[in-house]
Amino acid sequence: MTASPAKLDSKERGAAPVALLAELTHRCPLGCPYCSNPLALDARAGELDTAEWARVFSQAAQLGVLHAHLSGGEPAARHDLAEIIAHCAKAGLYTNLITSGIGLTQDRIKELADAGLDHAQLSIQDSDAPSADRIAGYKGAFSRKQAVAQWITRVGLPLTVNAVIHQANIGRAGKMVRLAVALGARRVEIAHTQYYGWGLLNRAALMPSRAAADAAIAEVEALKKTYAGVIVIDHVIPDYHARYPKACMGGWAKRGLNVTPSGRALPCHAAETIPDLVFWNVRDRSIEDIWTNSPAFNAFRGTDWMLEPCRSCPRKTIDYGGCRCQALALTGDAREADPVCHLSPHHDKVLKVAVLAAQGEDAGGADAYSYRRMKSREPA
Ligand code: SF4
Ligand code: FES
Repeated sequence: MTASPAKLDSKERGAAPVALLAELTHRCPLGCPYCSNPLALDARAGELDTAEWARVFSQAAQLGVLHAHLSGGEPAARHDLAEIIAHCAKAGLYTNLITSGIGLTQDRIKELADAGLDHAQLSIQDSDAPSADRIAGYKGAFSRKQAVAQWITRVGLPLTVNAVIHQANIGRAGKMVRLAVALGARRVEIAHTQYYGWGLLNRAALMPSRAAADAAIAEVEALKKTYAGVIVIDHVIPDYHARYPKACMGGWAKRGLNVTPSGRALPCHAAETIPDLVFWNVRDRSIEDIWTNSPAFNAFRGTDWMLEPCRSCPRKTIDYGGCRCQALALTGDAREADPVCHLSPHHDKVLKVAVLAAQGEDAGGADAYSYRRMKSREPA
């Protein structure tokens, strides 16, 4: 099913990755039902230690990586976070902390900034406090995040606010942009839910109707004009309603890589949902070796692996056939065109799912969430 590495020329293997997303831990106090982490979360006992992460970042910088995205779970759950940031800064990497804010204090944020942190991305779940806490599965999360945003901007770090849009908050997409402005963010990312992993598990409770999605898209697009020069609005529109898919990850193993808490190197955060892919571990292999030779990274590089209609489509080097993980989730075969594409023979499945979701819009919401929790923890 996969192209052999030997068949890929150096152009297809691509240049060095631009970014490395480090899932420093899967531990997290929140339980967001759309979490991009896998359903089987890595236990604390297997996490890479400080020295192992330092080696990963040094190797990444040597290979040409520019950005280190420090994510989780909740990266603040790691006591060595400042040490990791200091190492990244020393290696010349631009560091971005992707955080829920829970577990951060004013002093800790100052410590991270002093260690060399360049940027912080803070998630918000809604502009309405009770709803935000319900979505996060954590009482008091909303008010805590207000304080964290203040502490971040007070130490002079540029702040981006991330908001994931779904059935429970889609009517307040515009209010979340306004909240981001009020919190002093320079950028806000409004991203409609992606349906793999926890998002797929909770799809019925998360997917909004077509009408609600269209209204939210129009509202956010209009706000781009209103807030031009005040805040940058990055808008990731819901692809279940699109005609063409997006080039997921900018193309498979083309621009970046993810490393899980226990060291598995992945071409994207959901790659482990694809059966038969073999993931090499940073404990055994260098980042350069993984980037160049890992079977999982080479599986969907180039275009040889494509089936029709992608194989003979003029857009195949624009969107690379869309998302492999979504193709697998909706068709059972990761080589298929992403069925979001109207040219896919499976496109009707996407439409059916979207229509069913629209019909069942009031059929559950937060009451029906399977919150993202470590297996060992009690449900919310
Ligand atoms: Fe993209 Fe494939 Fe659709 Fe062409 S057929 S637009 S390459 S997903
Ligand atoms: Fe894996 Fe899109 S999430 S390729």
